[in-house]
Amino acid sequence: MINIDELKSKAIEGIKNAKSLKDLDDIRVNYFGKKGEITAIMQSFKDMAAEERKTLGKVVNDARESIENLIKDKQTKFNEAILNEKLKLESIDVSLPSKKVGIGHFHPCTIVFNDVKNIFEKMGYVVVTGPEVEYDEYNFEKLNIEKGHPARDEQDTFYINDKVLLRTQTSPVQARVMEKGKLPICMISAGRVFRSDSVDATHSPTFHQIEGLVVDNDISFTDLKGTLTMFAKAFFGEDIKTRFRPHHFPFTEPSAEMDVSCFKCGGKGCRFCKNEGWIEILGCGMVNPRVYELCGLDKDKCQGFAFGMGIERLALLKYEIDDMRLLYENDVRFLNQFD
Ligand code: DAH
Repeated sequence: MINIDELKSKAIEGIKNAKSLKDLDDIRVNYFGKKGEITAIMQSFKDMAAEERKTLGKVVNDARESIENLIKDKQTKFNEAILNEKLKLESIDVSLPSKKVGIGHFHPCTIVFNDVKNIFEKMGYVVVTGPEVEYDEYNFEKLNIEKGHPARDEQDTFYINDKVLLRTQTSPVQARVMEKGKLPICMISAGRVFRSDSVDATHSPTFHQIEGLVVDNDISFTDLKGTLTMFAKAFFGEDIKTRFRPHHFPFTEPSAEMDVSCFKCGGKGCRFCKNEGWIEILGCGMVNPRVYELCGLDKDKCQGFAFGMGIERLALLKYEIDDMRLLYENDVRFLNQFD
């Protein structure tokens, strides 16, 4: 006579001691496999009398069910433990610093232009644009740069034909705005200009300028000095001083160049400012009455000032770059340094 209770206790003990899914599977095969102990008992039922089969059948079935359930429970536990182990290995520490994502950078010239634009926009200036392929008439004629002026030489200017050229300065935008005849004018314009220069550390056949123009009926040289000094302080720092040296431009009278005190040495003189204490930043002046006439405005009712500066020059100074070519090579190792 088989002792089912003993068989069951043995199975329970085995399940309790099982250390792995493999151990559990061995137990399952021992009892329920082809040659398993419970399988053998079930097979012996067919030789039993109906009454005996009924009583024993129930006992065996109960034992089978509880052994199977115990195996299943333990399997679930093992599977959970395996899963937890796996999750632990795959888990991410969200407090760790993330990988740097490679996002783009603004070009130093774009940064400089945006800075200048923001300063002038706060003062009420509007940004206007003009064409890069320009008429001689706007680039020279209406700006009082008469025939025979050295700037018109083919050495300096890329001509497309007698009348059309690549603008050598952003000043023609002034003529285009004045020609519309609406005062007051308070504008800046930035863009690409062209000169037939060969490339070296300080020259390029194409570079960028920012132009400014203010015209109304009572604008004075004091307004010019105040505005440009305010700009220099906003761009280079509050401690900066400015000075205006007499100069000549055909489209302004009087004309000047503005220097800022060297922001490296504070004006004492150093390598950066070539021992001058001052650094040249821009050209400016009161709009020449002749230009008002050439642009169709009444010279007796107009007063204003204009200024122009090179964006590359500002970028070279601001970032202490000593070769202009670096700005055009677009080497990402260089560009990545500017945010
Ligand atoms: N157009 C001049 C240049 O290319 C710069 C300049 C000087 C512009 C004086 C101006 C100005 O508007 O008033 O050198």
